[in-house]
Order: sequence, then structure tokens, then C-alpha cells
Amino acid sequence: MAEEPHFRTFQKKPRFRPQPLPFSSTASSVEATNRSRSLDDLVVLGIETSCDDTAAAVVSGNGEILSQVVSSQADLLLRFGGVAPKMAEEAHILVIDQVVQQALDNSKLTGNDLSAVAVTIGPGLSLCLRVGVSKARRVAGRFNLPIVGVHHMEAHALVARLIERDLQFPFLALLISGGHNLLILARDVGHYVQLGTTIDDAIGEAYDKIARWLGLDLSKGGGPALEELACEGDSYFLKFKVPMRQHKDCNFSYAGLKTQVRLAIESTNICMESSPIATASSSDRKSRANIAASFQRTAVLHLEERCERAIEWALAMEPSIKCLVVSGGVASNQYVRSRLNYVAEKNGLCLVCPPPCLCTDNGVMVAWTGIEHFLLGRFDLPPPANDPEDFVFDIRPRWPLGEEYQHGKSDARSVKRARMYPSLTSIMIKGGSSQQ
Ligand code: KG4
Ligand code: ZN
Repeated sequence: MAEEPHFRTFQKKPRFRPQPLPFSSTASSVEATNRSRSLDDLVVLGIETSCDDTAAAVVSGNGEILSQVVSSQADLLLRFGGVAPKMAEEAHILVIDQVVQQALDNSKLTGNDLSAVAVTIGPGLSLCLRVGVSKARRVAGRFNLPIVGVHHMEAHALVARLIERDLQFPFLALLISGGHNLLILARDVGHYVQLGTTIDDAIGEAYDKIARWLGLDLSKGGGPALEELACEGDSYFLKFKVPMRQHKDCNFSYAGLKTQVRLAIESTNICMESSPIATASSSDRKSRANIAASFQRTAVLHLEERCERAIEWALAMEPSIKCLVVSGGVASNQYVRSRLNYVAEKNGLCLVCPPPCLCTDNGVMVAWTGIEHFLLGRFDLPPPANDPEDFVFDIRPRWPLGEEYQHGKSDARSVKRARMYPSLTSIMIKGGSSQQ
């Protein structure tokens, strides 16, 4: 279990108690009252189990990280070659109590000192989300705490406001993870316009797959392993085609690039996947490094090109935008950070990129997003101490963040697809609590 070195001692303060009025029709009065209290007194426990990491953290209303704990499932990834939902669920169940307890212990607090519990309710793997939501309800029920249901991708975006306290809406955000590639215009908490998404795979998935094909050591994750090897290679050695240049939009595609890399690996006549890099000859290692570097340059160039266009679109809609936020697991990559910093600066924007430990999945981003919603009066009242056996959890495995922007058309369009939950933004616009 990896702990981030963020623990600080904390003076106990009286527990912040919200106004019990969770609906947005009364949100402004709640907001005013809540904001007038000392933010130090607001303390939220965040729980994250949407994919393969079990994470919890305690964060105060003024953005102080009181503890954070992450238990990763890297060993399972190694064994199964990807996230196997049933295995991931079992791994979460095995550690969730310990992770949450450790987050509380490290913050020197108990459940009695908390103001609320925030938990990721989607998008993600339903079996995994269920473990976090069930734990959050048990803690909230026991200590009579309100619950805030959090959108995982919103949490990746909003954690930037914890890091950069001057970051105001509106801003542009590129969110890059194992399951998502999103370009969004963030107008307010809970209010997003989706400028682009992936039409097939996300960039993190491509990093993970290619790292496996190259026979890399995946114990610390495919993305970091590929990034490290790419440093040894010539990024211009192979000229992969940059995806989707003919499409003048902000969407992404990584499936075609993956196939190009697969063919390049096959053309070396070495079965890299079954021969670990540690045993490779120096020329074999060099050829793997060249493939990794060439892939990384092309994959990131695709991000750069889409970001350039998104900046243009976003500034046309909101000329006051000053910042580009880049977050999600892949944003912990140093090459990605430096290239996107260049793009931001070239366009007169500043780059806000959380430190790597807050880019990959973590409980801090969930706690902080919980705080942002809580202060606006968006939360659910405390659950009963014990849920009835047939209780149906509110989890949203497929849950868009915002309305889809149609370039050239006047308005954003609601994303409506089969089995998808209405977007977070459409719920917020209609008005309601975080959990409807
Ligand atoms: O946001 P995240 O932790 O989990 C999801 O929401 O998916 O992102 C995980 C993804 C994985 O695909 C992982 O390989 C990738 O982020 N990643 C990286 C790096 N660190 C993590 N990709 C490239 N370079 C890295 N240094
Ligand atoms: Zn994530």
C-alpha cells in the first residue's frame, strides 16, 4: 500500500454541520451560510474505487490534504493483462476498510470529526463503484454524515483548483486517463461542455497495451514503464501517422495508432511480449526504445493538435479563459506535461497540471470535488445506519460529464445514448441534488 508523503498534523476543530437543505432551489442561501463558516472546519473523507485503485483521503475545506492512501492493484494488472472487473471488485473489498481507516488514522481524526463523505459514483466499473459507495454509506450512516456523489472525471478536473487556488472558471481541461480522453470547457462546478472525446480507445489504454507488447516491466504500470524506455529511444525513428488529421474536430482516436505500433513490432521478427526487456540484447532494447519513443511522440502530438483546436473553440465561446488544465493518469507523464505546457504558452494560457500523485486516481480529488459541491448545497442527507438488504445503490457506470458541443451550431447538445445516465451538467442545469 503506497502512502503519499502528505500527512500533516491537524488541530481538532468543532465539526462543521451543513444546513440540511440539499436542493438547488435553496442552494444560494445554503451556499451563503456555508461559505461564511470557516472552511477549516469543513472536513471531508473522499473514497475512490471506480477502477483498479482503492483510494481514500481526508481533505479540509481550505484545501489542506490531511491524509491520502492509495492501494494499487498493479499485481492483478500484471497477472490478467488488464482490469478484470470481478478480480478488481474482490481486491477492493479486501482492502477498502483498511484504506479508509488508515486515511482517518493518518489525519488524526475519527468519523465524528468529519462533515461529509464524498464517493465516486461513476463513471467506472459497476462492481468496483459499488464497493466504494457501500463503504461510504456505512461510514456516513454510522456517523450521521451527508454524502456527496462524485463524477470521477469532474474530480480529475477540479483537483486542479485545490492545487491552484486562483484557478477560476471558465477554464479548458484535457483529461487523459486509462478509460477517457476528454476535452472540456469547464464553466462552473457541475457545468461542462464536452468539446471532444475518444471515438475508440483512450491514450492510457494505448500506453498500457503497447508497454505489454514491448515486454516491459509492468509492476509500476504500463504508462510509466513506456515513458521511461522512450527516453532511451529516437522519437523520429518511425514515422507513425498522426490520427484523425482529416477530421477538423476535437475528438481523439488511438486504435489506429495502436495497430501501426503492433505492425512495427511484428516487423522486427522478435516476439517482444514474451521476451522481457530485462533479457533483451542491446540492439533489441534500442529497437524497443525507438518504437516507444516514436509512439509517444505521435500519441502526444495528437493531444497537442486537438488541444490547439479546442483552445480556439473555447476562447471563441469564453474569451476570458486563462488556463489549460491537464489531468488524469497520463498527465503524470513528463513528456506530456512539457509538450502541453508549450501548447498552452503558445496560445497565451497558463498550464495547470496537478502533481503526478494527484493526476493518477486518488481520494483527494474525490474529497475536494465533494467539498466544491457541498459548499453549493449539493449533497444527500445522511443514510440510515444500515441499508435494507434490497437497497439499490445509485451508481452510474456510463455517465457523461457534459453536453456535447456541436461546432458551428449555436448550442451544446445533450449526449443521449443507450444505457447512459444523463450528463452531470444536464442534471445540474435542471436543478437538483448531487444524487437524483
Ligand atoms: O486516471 P487514472 O489513474 O485511472 C483511470 O481513470 O483510468 O489513469 C490511469 C492511466 C493508465 O492507463 C496508466 O498507464 C496511465 O494512466 N499512466 C501513464 C503514466 N502514469 C499513468 N501514462 C503515461 N505515462 C505515465 N507516466
Ligand atoms: Zn481516473
